[in-house]
Amino acid sequence: MERKLNILFVVSESAPYAKTGGLADVAASLPHALAGRGHKVTVVMPYYAAISPELLRTDETPFSMNVWMGDCEEWCLVHPRTINKNLNYYFIDFQKYFFREGYYHDNAMQDYLDNPSRFGFLSQAALYLCKTKQLAVDIVHAHDWQTSAAMAYLKTHHRSCPYLGKAAGVLTIHNIGYQGKYSRESYSYLGFREEDFNPRVFEDYGGINLLKGGIHFADIVNTVSPSYANETLNPAYSHGLDAFLRLKGDRYIGILNGVDYEEWDPAGDALIAKKYTFRNMNGKTVCKKALQKRMNLYQQEHIPIIGMVSRMTEQKGHYQLRECIEAIVNNMQVQFVILGSGDKELEHYFGTLPEKYSGHIGAYIGYDNSLAHQIEAGCDFFLMPSLYEPCGLNQIYSLRYGTLPIVRATGGLDDTVEQYVESDGSGTGFKYYDATPRAIYDTVGWAVSTYYDRREHFNDMQRRAMQQDFSWEESAARYESAYQRALEIANPEK
Ligand code: ADP
Ligand code: GLC
Repeated sequence: MERKLNILFVVSESAPYAKTGGLADVAASLPHALAGRGHKVTVVMPYYAAISPELLRTDETPFSMNVWMGDCEEWCLVHPRTINKNLNYYFIDFQKYFFREGYYHDNAMQDYLDNPSRFGFLSQAALYLCKTKQLAVDIVHAHDWQTSAAMAYLKTHHRSCPYLGKAAGVLTIHNIGYQGKYSRESYSYLGFREEDFNPRVFEDYGGINLLKGGIHFADIVNTVSPSYANETLNPAYSHGLDAFLRLKGDRYIGILNGVDYEEWDPAGDALIAKKYTFRNMNGKTVCKKALQKRMNLYQQEHIPIIGMVSRMTEQKGHYQLRECIEAIVNNMQVQFVILGSGDKELEHYFGTLPEKYSGHIGAYIGYDNSLAHQIEAGCDFFLMPSLYEPCGLNQIYSLRYGTLPIVRATGGLDDTVEQYVESDGSGTGFKYYDATPRAIYDTVGWAVSTYYDRREHFNDMQRRAMQQDFSWEESAARYESAYQRALEIANPEK
C-alpha cells in the first residue's frame, strides 16, 4: 500500500501490559507489524491496577484529559509511552473504573455490572485523545464488545471533528461468544442516541448489546480467520448475530491472525530449558525432561506428552475432555500437562487429576506465561478440543515448537492445521469434526499410535510443522486492504 495511515487502535488488553487471552497477543503484535510497515499506530488501553509500574516506567509526563459521557464530564489521567517512531501507547488512568482486581470481572468470575460504562468510557476517551493531541486519524480500529462503542461514537459524536471526521471504523470480532450484553441502565451515561436503542443497533431483549451496535456502525467488520467468518454466518456459531453479520454483506470478512515469532519460537525462547530448531531437535528432549520434572511426571522420554494451555471454559471443550481424559490415561501410554483457569467446576476437576493419576497427569490451575512456553516446548502434542475457535494462537505456537496439534476442525484451528494423511505421512496435525468425547478419544489414540508406530511420519510432521510461517506480514497486508476499503466506504465522494 502506497499511502501510510494513522491508525487508532482501541483495545481492552495488550501484552505484555495486560492479558487474559489471545486478544492481548494480537493487540501487541498487529500494531507492531503495522508500525513496521510504516503506518503510525496509536494504541489506547486502560491503566489497570494490575499493570506493573515497571512496565510503564518512562520519562514521558502524564497529562489530564476531559471526556464527555452523555451529560457527564469525566476527567482522567493519560500516561503516554513511546515504543518507536511509529508506535505509541496511551494508558487511560481512571481509578473509578480500572483500579479493580480484575479486568472484566471480580475474582469470583462475576462480571462488573458497570462494564458498559467502563469500556464505553475507554472507547470515548480514545477518541477524545485524538482531539486533545490534535491527532488526525484515518482509521479507528476497535476490538470485541469492549471497544465496540468507539464505532458508534465515531459515527455519531465526532463527524464534524477535524481530527476524526473522515476516519473510518473497523471492528474486529475476536470472539462472538462475548457480546457485552447488559441492562440498559447505563444507556444515558454512554451518550448513545435514543434512536439507536432499537433491535437493529444496541437494543437486545430490553438490554444493551454493545457488539451488535458496533457491528452496525463499523465500516468494515472482520473476524480472525476465514473459516470462523463463514461459521458465524450460521446460527449454530453466531450466538444470535448471524443476521446482523449477513447484513454487512462483503463488508464482513475473515483475516487470519499472525503470531509474533520473536516471542514464540524455540530457536530464541529464553523461557525454555534449551533452545532448538527443526535442524537440531536435541533441545526439545531437554525441554521434555524439564517439563516432566517440573510437573511431577514420570521422567520417561519415550512416553508422549499432550499439553493444553487455555482458559477453562465451555468454548475450549474441557467439558467433553472431562468425559474421556481418564479413559485416555488408563488405556494409552501417554502423559498430560494441563495449564489453565476459568470455570470453577473445571478448575476443580482438572486440578485434582494429578493426585488421582500421579506421574501421568500434571496440572497447574492459574496463569503462568513461562509454563505456557515450557509446555509448548516440552510436549509432543498439543490438544485443543474447542467447540468453536475464532482463530486460536496456541496451535500456531505449537506448530513452531514441533508440538503437533490435535484439534477440532473449527474456525482458525481448521485453517492453520493440515490433516495428517496416514498413506503418505503428509500434514501437520490431527483433526476431528464431532464435538464429542468419543472423537477426542479416537483422535488422541490416532496421534499416539502415530507417535509409537509411524515414528518417521511423526518426525517428518514435526519438522514440517516447525517450518510453517504464520508471521504477520501477510495478515497485516490484509488489514491494510481492509482499512483502505473502510476509508472508501466512509468517504464515498472520494
Ligand atoms: P483465547 O484468546 O480464546 O483464550 P488463544 O489461543 O487465541 O485463545 O490465545 C490464548 C493465549 O493466552 C495464548 O497466548 C496462551 O498461551 C495464553 N494463555 C491462556 N491461558 C493461559 C494460562 N493459564 N497461562 C498462561 N497463558 C495462558
Ligand atoms: C479470541 C479467540 C481466539 C483468538 C483470539 C485472538 O480470544 O477465542 O480464538 O485467537 O481472540 O484473536
